Amino acid sequence: MVKDRTILLCVSGGIAAYKACALTSKLVQAGANVRVAMTKSAEQFVGQATFQALSRNPVYTDVFEEHDPTKIAHIDVVDSSDLIVVAPATANTIAKLANGIADDFMTTSILAAKCPVIISPAMNVNMLEHPATQRNIETLKSYGYQLIEPGVGNLACGWIGGGRLPEPEDLVRIIESQFFPKLYLGKDVLITAGPTVERIDPVRYLSNDSSGKMGVALAEVARDMGARVTLVHGPLQVPVPEGVTAVPVKSSEEMLREVTSRFEASDLVVKSAAVADYRPKTVHSEKHKKVHGPLTIELEETTDILKSLGEKKTHQVLVGFAAETERLEEHATAKLKRKNVDYLVANDVSGSDVGFGADDNEVVLFHADGTTHRLPKQSKKQLAFELLTHFKEAVR
Ligand code: PMT
Repeated sequence: MVKDRTILLCVSGGIAAYKACALTSKLVQAGANVRVAMTKSAEQFVGQATFQALSRNPVYTDVFEEHDPTKIAHIDVVDSSDLIVVAPATANTIAKLANGIADDFMTTSILAAKCPVIISPAMNVNMLEHPATQRNIETLKSYGYQLIEPGVGNLACGWIGGGRLPEPEDLVRIIESQFFPKLYLGKDVLITAGPTVERIDPVRYLSNDSSGKMGVALAEVARDMGARVTLVHGPLQVPVPEGVTAVPVKSSEEMLREVTSRFEASDLVVKSAAVADYRPKTVHSEKHKKVHGPLTIELEETTDILKSLGEKKTHQVLVGFAAETERLEEHATAKLKRKNVDYLVANDVSGSDVGFGADDNEVVLFHADGTTHRLPKQSKKQLAFELLTHFKEAVR
């Protein structure tokens, strides 16, 4: 998403300036054109030469240092940027930006900027919590700047609390999200993820290998594409993305209830959860005692949530997944019809490098109008973007 984008990275004088080096490197590796502006105090922590080598661009520090007489550097640099990122943003820089003070290259440039601005505060917890800093942060939000919540943990000054600059890979994710096309602005997207858990007794259950990665990737990308996202999920092996409404469930019965009650208000429903088809007919309230010889557990069918939604759907675009180990196309197209869905995403889950638990997936997308798209092996996040772009064609 950042490929060929021009990003002005503004580094102010805090110990977290060292993380801005890794951030520069990661953005450049992802194909971004990164230009760095530093305050004088940032130079106390990291030298210009480091950023110049990592970004392969000149570093801006002095507003009067004009390399090209045909341009005014601090105006030209922002006019030609797609995004400005201030990381780390110290209390002093935040105060200056909130009050329109322009006394160095960085603050002068930001005051002249028309492109989006992301501010990532990093400082001592007491400085962060001071009413002056909090007021300045609110002022920056009112200008339309995006403020990144500082992390909580051990601070360089010895205090423990809020004020940490997020890790460079998290900042890259936030920066990337700026560049997603906002195809789902104002839309409500409901996604299910992970396995369900069907109890046998208080200590045993039936479940499956779903990690939730596919559903979480869909939720994250739908959010970045502008949707209001609700994620109804079983136990996950990955965290729920920020800004997504999480509804944790355990059993298929709970998932049925939570999904059905939100169905009417949804524009798009994507059922990537691996829901149990069967559950124990009897759930023992006490731990089931070992029996000598074979034990038979009688199973009963669960409600097919996707099929029940397919019977009720009105304006919603409904998407099912199909986990297959053989005759993918035949089984998938049968499910598409039987469950009355608009799209069916079929994945072959017989290998270990795609499907359950893997970071990548490879699918065939079947549309109810008969068209088919083969989406090759790629990260679940990239795939989520491709899938959501397809689904948008049907969402009104
Ligand atoms: O979570 P990951 O580790 O990232 O793995 C991703 C995945 C492999 C789980 C995912 O890509 C996937 O294939 N999800 C669907 C798994 C599944 O349950 O497939 P199925 O063919 O058994 O079910 C077909 C569809 O009916 C699914 O959309 C399922 O959510 C739905 N269903 C099934 C049974 C049931 N009782 N209710 C349902 O709604």
